[in-house]
Amino acid sequence: MKSLLLSLVACSLLSPVLCDQNPDFDSSQSASGWYFVRFNLPAGEQLTSVTGEMIVPPLEPTNGGTYYIWPGLETSTYDGIYQNVLSGTDSGTWAYFSGYCCTNPTLPWSDNLFVYEGQTLSYRNVLTDTTWATTQGNIDTGEVDNNSFDALVGKTFQSAVFAIELYSESWNFGPMTFQNIAITGTGSDASWCNETPENWQNGADYTISDLSATVDDFGVTCNIGSIVLNQPAAPAVKARTVTKTSSATVTPTPTGNAGVRTLPASGVWGCFSVLLLVFCSL
Ligand SMILES: *[C@@H]1O[C@H](CO)[C@@H](O)[C@H](O)[C@H]1NC(C)=O
Repeated sequence: MKSLLLSLVACSLLSPVLCDQNPDFDSSQSASGWYFVRFNLPAGEQLTSVTGEMIVPPLEPTNGGTYYIWPGLETSTYDGIYQNVLSGTDSGTWAYFSGYCCTNPTLPWSDNLFVYEGQTLSYRNVLTDTTWATTQGNIDTGEVDNNSFDALVGKTFQSAVFAIELYSESWNFGPMTFQNIAITGTGSDASWCNETPENWQNGADYTISDLSATVDDFGVTCNIGSIVLNQPAAPAVKARTVTKTSSATVTPTPTGNAGVRTLPASGVWGCFSVLLLVFCSL
């Protein structure tokens, strides 16, 4: 019984990623690799702005798959992500675009900026009144792409995510640098702005530098000099059972859109199977 209780606690800690229900998601495609850190605002608060930069890594596909690397704003119900996506395939060129993935609403993606190794990209996602607008740029070339997302009126974004999402490719491009980041949310509780964000399945070895929070009339702003996703973390022995189970049940679920990305979510069955596994191993 104690173990069962422990497993319940473990499951609720994994929630909502593992235990979340996303009935609308299509599981026809699954990412083969996921690495992300996520800053979660307290209940009732929401993001109003996420800005920053990222440095384009080398593009070296080996399996004909796709790399997606992005900062994103995730809804409080984990049903969609507003994101600035760096996408690489064996075309040999990275494409940089913005949009909202993957359900309700289904939006067209922005135009692509084609970008290259070593360039610094900017992004700015800002809520003005009720409308989210995005500016993405290539600082090296001066190119800029602006988009306004009227269909996101009423969406509440509560988590800021920095992610590597891989389809039939491995993390073979070295460290991924996100820098000069400012995340602003409502409220006055700055506890979410810290150097140990959620790290999905402890999967990433990462380094956070120069982090500080300010609280003023506009809310909490978390300034982060850099988040570097260095490499896949060495597997944690203690987390083995949970890791195995979740990787077997997680089915991240882009829809048919060619540029779809979302976070892994396995539905209530993922949660249930963890319970079952722990229970049966008693
Ligand atoms: C794009 O948006 C930025 C604000 O982020 C603004 O300063 C700039 O003038 C816009 N550019 C165009 C071409 O609309």
